[in-house]
Amino acid sequence: MQTKLEQMKTRAVEEIKNASNLNELQEIKIKYLSRKGELNTIRRGIKDLSPEEKPFIGDLANKTAGAIEKAFDESYETLYKQSISEKLASEKLDVTLPGDFVPYGKQHPLTLTVNEIVSIFYKMGFTLVDEADSPEVETEYYNFDALNFPPDHPAKDMQDTFYTLNAPNLLLRSQTSNSQIRKMEKTPPPLRVISPGRVYRSEAVSSRKNNLFHQVEGFMVDKEVTFGDLKGVLNAFTGQFFGQERPTRFRTSFFPFTEPSVEIDVQCIICAGSGCRTCSRSGWLEILGAGMIDPNVLQTVNIDPDKYSGFAFGMGVERLAMLKLAVNDIRLFFNNDIRFLEQF
Ligand code: PHE
Repeated sequence: MQTKLEQMKTRAVEEIKNASNLNELQEIKIKYLSRKGELNTIRRGIKDLSPEEKPFIGDLANKTAGAIEKAFDESYETLYKQSISEKLASEKLDVTLPGDFVPYGKQHPLTLTVNEIVSIFYKMGFTLVDEADSPEVETEYYNFDALNFPPDHPAKDMQDTFYTLNAPNLLLRSQTSNSQIRKMEKTPPPLRVISPGRVYRSEAVSSRKNNLFHQVEGFMVDKEVTFGDLKGVLNAFTGQFFGQERPTRFRTSFFPFTEPSVEIDVQCIICAGSGCRTCSRSGWLEILGAGMIDPNVLQTVNIDPDKYSGFAFGMGVERLAMLKLAVNDIRLFFNNDIRFLEQF
């Protein structure tokens, strides 16, 4: 048994020395030192030995186990260090390489423009309309009739307005003014409301016109609201949006739902007023329609025109964006060309 133990020890130490990685080393340990390993197999024979031999062989078996473990520990240490440095070498990082470029998304120039318009009116005490009071699919009543359009008004023609095919009175709204009626119908004055949204018109598309565009509607109704209030609010707006030095002008106009009515023009940014294609050589571009709310409209929504008055305005978001950002074709806002969109 002594020889067996000694031979086994020599073999084990030799194998441990030759192990080339940690896995192999672990296998060797199991082979010799585990519960069912070679050393225990030999130990199981100790009980059959003579009483004189037992302590000697027992002691030798323990020493053999110790020697194998010591060899194992030493080898483990070396192989472990080796495996770490192999790992470090193979997973080496070049921290000087440039990182992957991840471009940030940006808001669409029209979204930026609407947000700016809305925030200017917020500062003047206007609040945003509920979405439910500003639907894009609308009835003829809210888009036209309640706004004092006569039954034969040309805007009601199919050539100007998109009607739905299956429901005869439903259309895509041609103006955000429908939200005036819906809001005033539900809420008594005083009111100061701002209402941005999409509108649709059946027109030939050009550098200045698109079938779909955006408006921001606004209105104020209270006791003793005057045309002076309208001018004050809208001048404050154009001054903040375009800067005080940008020339603007009021022109008289007509809308069925306002009386008197005006339009505001802003000097063309493309040609600085000298006249170009974008402004039809006039040097000016119209940005909004406005006026004092017609007493007929107030009556329709059960607001007493003898007690209350108000003004309303509706501005074209694309126009405002074109004039502010010097964009000369409205279609650029809808083409989703990243080279255009990236600039804002
Ligand atoms: N709704 C009008 C348009 O689309 C603009 C407008 C709004 C005019 C409110 C007066 C008052 O042309």
